Amino acid sequence: MTRLTIRRPSDLHVHFRDGDVLRHVVPFTAQAFARAIVMPNLSPPVTTAAMALAYRTRIMDAVPASTDFTPMMTCYLTDHTDASDLLAGHRDGIFAAAKLYPAHATTNSSHGVSAIDRIHDVLGAMQEAGLPLLVHGELTRPDIDIFDRERGFIEEVLVPTLERFPRLRVVMEHITTEDGAKAAVAFGDRVAATITPQHLLFNRNALFQGGLRPHMYCLPILKREKHRLALRRAAVSGRPNYFLGTDTAPHLRHLKEADCGCAGVFSAPVAVEAYLRVFEEEDALDRFEAFASLNGAAFYGFDPPAETVTYVRASRTVEASVPVGDAGALVPLFAGEDIAWSLQSG
Ligand code: NCD
Ligand code: ZN
Repeated sequence: MTRLTIRRPSDLHVHFRDGDVLRHVVPFTAQAFARAIVMPNLSPPVTTAAMALAYRTRIMDAVPASTDFTPMMTCYLTDHTDASDLLAGHRDGIFAAAKLYPAHATTNSSHGVSAIDRIHDVLGAMQEAGLPLLVHGELTRPDIDIFDRERGFIEEVLVPTLERFPRLRVVMEHITTEDGAKAAVAFGDRVAATITPQHLLFNRNALFQGGLRPHMYCLPILKREKHRLALRRAAVSGRPNYFLGTDTAPHLRHLKEADCGCAGVFSAPVAVEAYLRVFEEEDALDRFEAFASLNGAAFYGFDPPAETVTYVRASRTVEASVPVGDAGALVPLFAGEDIAWSLQSG
């Protein structure tokens, strides 16, 4: 196949940040995707409907003219989340979901939930309203090996929560293990999972390829090859429980290339093309539209766009870096390398 036409895809897990970085990264996502689920881990986090509304306005101000793009906002859950504000924000069309960051799991998560029972009231209200819970599924106890954090979270937190709230709808964000792929299909259609391009393309060796590779460092961390293979089988399976969410997570170069570098892979400039490499290698391009454009829309309950886009098998060189004014630069996934697919313009 040398060209692929699909309904315009949606990226159901992005970090846009704020300020200068936001202005420079939003156009990449808005060009390639009809919609995005926007993560709320700003500093301070987006914890109220009023904050989300203001943030949505700042995002829309960064969308290039004549680009059709809809950001879908999320609420950052804390031990003190006000369920009535959350549900009012949902009824008003501001909140599409709420995000659980276990405290200290990842970037800007110090305000996260310290123990799941602290938010049982909120989860009960979300279950009644049909508002999806998005989870960063990692245990954060320091005694847990970093490569076992996802499995531990599924066993200790996720499964008991799904049993306690039998109608709660959950997206397991950025699954990285075979255990995650299995859990995403074990609860019928009320549980789903996003999968990033880097977890489909790389295993943990990529972190140490010829030396330490800060731009491959994200959380949850890259895993063993057997997990990568399980994620690839899941993504191309055509099952409605799996959909596209890049977890594009820009951090300025000097904050990644540092003695305590930030976690996050900036994939927005090359996201669809990176997934296409996976689906082509798996001989599953006919199932790409389901993963990229349809499954997530069905889960979140929006109509997939009527508009289509065409990707052609024409190589392009990915930008070596993306300048962010005086602040510095971002290094994208596949920086300076050739990628086989391109968006057909016009
Ligand atoms: C994300 C970030 O930088 O906000 N980082 C990452 O490595 N994925 C946070 C997250 O999604 O864990
Ligand atoms: Zn993320």
